[in-house]
Amino acid sequence: MLNETLSIKINKTQNSKIESVDWENLPFGKVFSDHMLVMDYKEGAWGNPEIKPFGPMSLHPATSAIHYGQSVFEGMKANRTGDGKVLLFRPEMNAKRFAESCERMCMPAIAEDVFTELVKRIVDIDRNWIPNKEGYSLYVRPFMFATDDFIGIKSSDTYTFVIFTCPVGVYYSSPINVKIEEFYTRASQGGVGRAKTAGNYGASLYPAKKGNEEGFHQLIWTDGIEHKYIEESGTMNVMFVVDGKLITPSEDSDTILKGVTKRSVVEIAQHWGITVEERKITVDEIITALKEDRVSEAFGAGTAATIAPIAKIGFRGELYELPAVKTREISNKVSSYLSDLKVGSIEDEMNWCVAV
Ligand code: COI
Repeated sequence: MLNETLSIKINKTQNSKIESVDWENLPFGKVFSDHMLVMDYKEGAWGNPEIKPFGPMSLHPATSAIHYGQSVFEGMKANRTGDGKVLLFRPEMNAKRFAESCERMCMPAIAEDVFTELVKRIVDIDRNWIPNKEGYSLYVRPFMFATDDFIGIKSSDTYTFVIFTCPVGVYYSSPINVKIEEFYTRASQGGVGRAKTAGNYGASLYPAKKGNEEGFHQLIWTDGIEHKYIEESGTMNVMFVVDGKLITPSEDSDTILKGVTKRSVVEIAQHWGITVEERKITVDEIITALKEDRVSEAFGAGTAATIAPIAKIGFRGELYELPAVKTREISNKVSSYLSDLKVGSIEDEMNWCVAV
């Protein structure tokens, strides 16, 4: 029904860039497809969605998102199946999380079914941009920002919603080293940690840079009060296998992003009969288990990062090495399962894929 009623103006590019793409060597997030979808909010309503050639947007210098950070985004992926269908992975979860981020940031929601339909339309227009190489995908980036040209502090009355897509390769090309961060804080109780809002990422850059200087690819954030509990990593949620159980920090606090990949790993592992615990995890528990060789796997889970094996964990100047990636039964099995599912090469028993 919605499919027929949502009217989108379409202005296709006359100068496709697709022939200039090096499909064998796609970096993450630097190559952009031909089109973008733009929709504006004013006078209390969303209107006039338009698909047009991808390109720069002009902004008033006082655009309030630039000054005060009312800006939220999502990340999702589209893949092509062997028989040419295009699949999105659990887009309704992104639609829901986007609506929740908007609410927390005082931004106007987009109905979840409209969000999903808009994603489908832009992916459909640029379906030829979906890479065919294993592990590569079309990354979809929906985002919204406040556009009032006003520098007083208040929530904006006007907003722009945009979706663009990028053919992408892998985010991490090899297993990563992470440092458990005990000084800097990503999110505090009552803050915006659960929202996928731009400032969370901006604020993480300085601590991440300090970590990089020490040789770490990423940080594992701890809680902002005692730095005692594990929360998430900079680009993904974090999961461990300890004593054969899959454990991951629970989402009870409002400081952890509700990851679509993390949720999918939890659900499929439970479906396979693996014991999964979503609960508070202390740093001490992980360090003790590492010292006693009881941590058989550690990995990040995220849309961009997919399943990212953690090779080493740093804590208070010590470096703890995890078992070789090829020995990791749960994360390797989940990683292959999700990859196969996304390209339609196995049955979608959980009903997670949505055709475009
Ligand atoms: C995603 O995984 O989609 C994100 O938004 C994280 C970002 C590091 C690319």
